[in-house]
Amino acid sequence: MGILEWATSPLGQRVPIHIAWFLIWVALIAGLGFLIVHAIYVRYLAKQKGFAPDLPSPGAVELPERIPRHSLAARLFHWIMAAAMFVLLFTAFLPKVGIRFNWVTYHWIAGTVLTLSILFHIVHASFYLDFWSIWPDRSDLEDARKRFQRFLGNSAELPRKFAKYPLENKLYHGVVMLAGLLVIVTGIFMMFRVRTVFFPRDPYLFSDMTWGMMYVLHGLAGVGLITLTIVHVYFAVRPEKLPITASMIVGSMSREFYLKEHDPNRWVIEGLPHRSVDGD
Ligand code: HEM
Repeated sequence: MGILEWATSPLGQRVPIHIAWFLIWVALIAGLGFLIVHAIYVRYLAKQKGFAPDLPSPGAVELPERIPRHSLAARLFHWIMAAAMFVLLFTAFLPKVGIRFNWVTYHWIAGTVLTLSILFHIVHASFYLDFWSIWPDRSDLEDARKRFQRFLGNSAELPRKFAKYPLENKLYHGVVMLAGLLVIVTGIFMMFRVRTVFFPRDPYLFSDMTWGMMYVLHGLAGVGLITLTIVHVYFAVRPEKLPITASMIVGSMSREFYLKEHDPNRWVIEGLPHRSVDGD
């Protein structure tokens, strides 16, 4: 049993046509397996999280009770993208596990919403947000090494508190970005195989082999997104992460949570009044 399904083209060539659909179950089980193992690890084995004391901050600022974290535009993007992602996953995979309905139209419409929302996000993050905040930096790697040594039981310094996003979130963003771009690019070409409002149907745009590879890449990235979505939702509902999840709804988090997990030198909150050194 291979991971691809094959067919013979009119020219007699053996071509892949899409992934084997049992991979849907593999992806589901991988996601559920991860969350069960992680939940047991955190409950019974993990040590208390510890951080090195913050370095003195160059200019002390008056921190408000609520720390702004996600702008309204960023939150709207997140929830529109999430809705499109769920519609895409359900319309793609329910028919493959026996729930039959006319899925293709809903699927390419949700695909268009996802594509537009990601285009918006790229422009927004590049020009209006702190673009580099989501990419791993040198401190992340140094701290990851310290955390790993401590995990192994070796002696190592305590890691620093996080910047706006912990390394795990940055790595997750990188992987989901790659899978997302892959379904989008292949999905746009696949729209030539079905009837949409954008361009005339042209199933002869590519050879059978190229179409086959396109469907395979779309399917592989698609099942990958099943696992990634399960992991994401699991972390979002974990009790210790709820303040972060709530900030994706209300836009801010408490000062206590910010100071507990984040280093004010690594995640500087812009536009706050400076506290005067002599106290006035
Ligand atoms: C979470 C993201 C996505 C997942 C999980 C997903 C999954 C799938 C799957 C499993 C199929 C069936 C392929 C087959 O029968 O071999 C499919 C078809 C299709 N997808 Fe996606 N997809 C996603 C995103 C997108 C996006 C963003 C677009 C458009 C920009 C798109 C456009 C299409 C089209 C047009 C088809 C129909 C192709 C046909 O029936 O010939 N998909 N998708």
